[in-house]
Amino acid sequence: MAKEINTIGVLTSGGDAPGMNAAIRAVVREALSKGKKVKGIYKGYNGLLNEEIKDLTARDVSDTISKGGTVLYTARCAEFRTEEGQKRGAEVCRKHGIDGLVVIGGDGSFAGAQKLANLGINTVGVPGTIDLDIACTEYTIGFDTAVNTAMEAIDKVRDTSTSHERCSIIEVMGRNAGYIALWCGIANGAEDILLPEKYDYDEQKLINNIIATRKRGKKHHIIINAEGIGHSTSMARRIEAATGVETRATILGHMQRGGSPTCKDRVYASMMGAYAVDLLCEGKTNRVVGYRHGDFQDFDINEALAMQKSIPEYWYRVSRALAI
Ligand code: ADP
Ligand code: F6P
Repeated sequence: MAKEINTIGVLTSGGDAPGMNAAIRAVVREALSKGKKVKGIYKGYNGLLNEEIKDLTARDVSDTISKGGTVLYTARCAEFRTEEGQKRGAEVCRKHGIDGLVVIGGDGSFAGAQKLANLGINTVGVPGTIDLDIACTEYTIGFDTAVNTAMEAIDKVRDTSTSHERCSIIEVMGRNAGYIALWCGIANGAEDILLPEKYDYDEQKLINNIIATRKRGKKHHIIINAEGIGHSTSMARRIEAATGVETRATILGHMQRGGSPTCKDRVYASMMGAYAVDLLCEGKTNRVVGYRHGDFQDFDINEALAMQKSIPEYWYRVSRALAI
């Protein structure tokens, strides 16, 4: 028989993402509406190990849905990668009466959640990362806001780049995944998009393309460079030397992770947070919430972590065709 859950814990882990607060709020209010107690665990797995745990009421999450970042704070925790750390984490949960846990974060955070589930704490993961790099889901909390923030910033760089007839290399986040770069590449009409999944390190091809687009009368040349490729500043120096076209590098950095979440991030994060609580209340554990084919679904964490995801070939081909 499924274990009855009385107290649900919630934490955010890894890089923060706009919309995490909407997910936390939904966890708290869905759980309270089902008669459960809720405990907020501050600063990710670090806070779990340090017992930074507080009861949460519906009022504690008032006025948070429109805020960026995470009101529970977040952290990366090396100790939690060890068996000892994980066992202590499970003990802390038991000590505080937490019999169900919602972990909002990326793949790394899910690996931690899986360990807690193996140690008897019912655990559900909710995908929170601006990188969109979680294979079981077409949506991750924060991507929509981040990609819109990056798009607006790139539009601005493009204005000045055109005025000076320059080449601009704009580096966006994404760690080893090129989703932010690809979406901005299409949305901002970039001439080149460098994706970790596709880049062949042939800089001569880029140089030839800049020279060719100049000849075709283009007034700027926007290169979106995914973070996984990096070195935008030195690349700009080499490109300027080889083409004679003034070239500047802009690294958008952490501004992409901040700001008020978009409507989509607020709504989807709310749905996912509530869905995670419903799974726990049904006695489910070792699950992760995803969004696929127009609906919210859940997957076994082990299976979710084993899934692969890559840039769709068709999207990439179209992005190239539209850049002529
Ligand atoms: P994300 O969750 O965004 O992928 P990280 O990869 O930094 O971010 O992981 C966040 C935290 O999750 C790590 O700091 C660590 O505490 C925990 N974690 C990551 N991988 C594992 C693992 N294999 N086992 C246990 N905990 C892990
Ligand atoms: O995973 C989110 C992310 O913003 C990545 O895009 C980036 O590589 C990384 O986190 C940056 O991490 P930090 O905040 O530790 O610099």
